[in-house]
Amino acid sequence: MKIFLDTANIQEIKEAAQMGIIDGITTNPTLLAKESGKELQMIASEIIHLVDGPISLEVLSQKAEEMLEEGKRLFDISHKHVVIKVPMCEEGLRAIRMFAFHKIPTNCTLIFSANQGLLAAKAGATYISPFIGRLDDIGEDGMVLLENLINIIDFYGYETQIIAASIRHPLHVTQAALLGSHIATVPYPVLKKMFHHPLTTKGIEVFKQDWEKFIQSSN
Ligand code: G3P
Repeated sequence: MKIFLDTANIQEIKEAAQMGIIDGITTNPTLLAKESGKELQMIASEIIHLVDGPISLEVLSQKAEEMLEEGKRLFDISHKHVVIKVPMCEEGLRAIRMFAFHKIPTNCTLIFSANQGLLAAKAGATYISPFIGRLDDIGEDGMVLLENLINIIDFYGYETQIIAASIRHPLHVTQAALLGSHIATVPYPVLKKMFHHPLTTKGIEVFKQDWEKFIQSSN
């Protein structure tokens, strides 16, 4: 499973990229708004310099034709890296079809039902992003949606890749991997938690102490 980082924060991306396990980046307007004082173009260029993978940048226009124009400008930042994030809605689906015609990759975001995912895949979305955590928040099971989408995409052989998004904790990542999600996009604090286990920490400490005892006894 590919792991994307769900952030627009350059420091987080720098640290995660050094770990060598980040395959791409997803951003959204909320994440970008946290990086106040910087222009989108500058943030995107910095990200591209750090991560050699797809980087989702979201369009804010309301009409398909305007989404296309806005998306083309974003795509020009880097044809190799930029993926246009398009919200799930009727205009968004029309835009995804147009982007596909222009061979511009898309990530259909804000997917909360299997039907929405099916429509996005049919429209030619490169990626679809079901929001797991936000469904859990309202008492639904986000993992059921992810499983349904994996089955639908697999059954009909769509090339669309599924990004498990709105990930809130390490268990979400494990569950997404077990279901066979192509990708999980993970906030940095969740990624850091994935490294840790109390028995690993304890084990490292005990090995260190025992090795020091061994060194002392052999002097
Ligand atoms: O990037 C989209 C998604 O991951 C947002 O997550 O935590 O705002 O529901 P969240």
